[in-house]
Formats: sequence, C-alpha cells, structure tokens
Amino acid sequence: MTGRVLLLLSLLVLSLVLFTAESAVARGPNPNPIEFIKFSCRATRYPAVCVQTLTRYAHVIRQNEQQLAITALTVSMSMTKSSASFMKKMTKVKGIKPREHGAVQDCKENMDNSVDRLNQSVKEMGLTAAGNVMWRMSNVQTWVSAALTDQNTCLDGFAHPQMDRNLKASIRARVVDASQVTSNALALVNRFASKIETP
Ligand SMILES: *[C@@H]1O[C@H](CO)[C@@H](O)[C@H](O)[C@H]1NC(C)=O
Repeated sequence: MTGRVLLLLSLLVLSLVLFTAESAVARGPNPNPIEFIKFSCRATRYPAVCVQTLTRYAHVIRQNEQQLAITALTVSMSMTKSSASFMKKMTKVKGIKPREHGAVQDCKENMDNSVDRLNQSVKEMGLTAAGNVMWRMSNVQTWVSAALTDQNTCLDGFAHPQMDRNLKASIRARVVDASQVTSNALALVNRFASKIETP
C-alpha cells in the first residue's frame, strides 16, 4: 500500500470514530441543560410552566437533579412570597365586605405559612450534603406538600358563589400561578427523592 492510501484510510477510520462518538452523545437522553429541563418537566403537572420558569436558570441547574429541585423550590418560594405580599395589601383595602375581608385575611395567613414551609424546605435541601439525606428529603416532601395545601386552602376560601367576582379573579390569578409552580416543584422534589432511594 502506498502512503497516500494509508493516509486516506486512516482519515476515513478517524472520521468514522468521531462520527460515532458524536452521535452517541447526541442520542443520550439529555444532550444539554435545556433538554434536561424539558425532559424532567415532563414529570410535572404543568410542564409548559415548568420549562418557562426554569430555563432561565439552566446555567445553575446544569444536568443535576438536586439543583433542579432546589431551583424549582426557590422559584416557588419567591412566587408564593409575592402573592403573600399582594394578599397583605388586599387586607388593607377599604370597602371590602366582611365575608370577603375574612377570606382575604385567611388567604394571607395561608400564604404566609406556605412561604415559611417553602423557606424551610429550601434550607433542608441545602443540608442534604451533611447526611441523613432520606430523612431530610422526606421532611421536604411533607413540607412542600403542606405548602401546596395552604395555597389550595386559600383558593377554596373564594369558592363561595357570592364572592365578589373581581376580587376573586385578581386573587386567583396570583395564587394559581404560585400553586402551579409549587405543584411542579413538589413533582421535581419527589423525582429527586425517588432517585436517591433507587440509585
Ligand atoms: C428564609 O427566611 C429567613 C428569615 O426570613 C431568611 O433570612 C432566609 O434568607 C430565607 N431563606 C431562603 C432560602 O430564602
């Protein structure tokens, strides 16, 4: 064989090897952080909301299940906080009927509790490196689930047909957004927890 043929052959082999390696990577389940987020969000009840709220943190999440769950919880906490502060403003609005005022007040307390539970959950997830991972994750699952119940309890308070429509609509808009993000965070927490139990 001439040197030229050998060179051609080795180039051919090299490009085959490179091609195979590249397609093996591309065929993996999550070729990049955005794809990882999209894939993981399929486990949630509101996947479009999940992708929309988390992709901006792709650089933090990378392809790490724990980081994904912590980020989802942090987003949920911050949205719940802002709807809690909206409720606080609403309790001070004059001219609201007693029934409505009572519901707003209850809702504010529920949302404050929800923020506390989410805050505690973010902290607990940060402590998993210190050990007791399964126990801590089970605490987080309990608290996030309770935080979601708090938000739904707030919404239930406005279910009465005689509630003022405009008030109900403006409160629902905020709390529903927070509760969808919280429901998603719970799904991602559960997903992470299940991966620890069955690695
Ligand atoms: C939780 O709340 C405390 C007290 O309000 C605050 O200092 C802390 O930053 C919060 N934690 C998180 C993770 O936001």
